[in-house]
Amino acid sequence: MRTLLTADEIALRVTELGERISTDYAGQPLLVIGVLHGSVVLVADLIRKISQPHQIAFVRAASYGANTTSSGQPLLALEGLPSLNGRHVLLVDDIFDTGRTLACLVEELQRFDPASLKTAVLLWKTERREVAAVPDYFAFQIPNEFVIGYGLDYNDDYRHLPHIAVLEPADLSPAR
Ligand code: IMP
Ligand code: MG
Repeated sequence: MRTLLTADEIALRVTELGERISTDYAGQPLLVIGVLHGSVVLVADLIRKISQPHQIAFVRAASYGANTTSSGQPLLALEGLPSLNGRHVLLVDDIFDTGRTLACLVEELQRFDPASLKTAVLLWKTERREVAAVPDYFAFQIPNEFVIGYGLDYNDDYRHLPHIAVLEPADLSPAR
């Protein structure tokens, strides 16, 4: 494994992201919606850098299993969401890869009539985009490599790493 982004580099950019979001949404009723499970570390750090009052909620999206490429159509679970009607919603995920997960979620959440709906990600793999939309906020653009840590997993492992590392082909294990 090779370190791509250190914990310090991530902390700096997440702080900047939180400050920008605080300015952009000043005085507006913000609801931060994290996409489970990959966004949990980012959401926990980011919301502590957003200085205005806001609420949080989570949705679930799964597309991968034990592969390192997306299966295309993510499975979404939206139950338990509060009312989005008239609220400014910021959807937060770990990574924008093909963009299909966030594009599907945006389409689904628009049905609930939020006042606005934007997306924020830690990482953006710019070469892999397959949808028209791009993330509204991102911390880092990265090359097309499979990364883990800071919430990102391979086969549900490595989410706890405080940094982002590239998982080399030799690190890949058969599915459990
Ligand atoms: P997309 O729908 O192709 O944009 O994929 C988004 C989801 O795939 C993310 O929420 C991640 O859970 C997962 N994903 C994409 N690339 C990586 C990676 O390099 N490492 C770990 N998970 C990834
Ligand atoms: Mg994942």
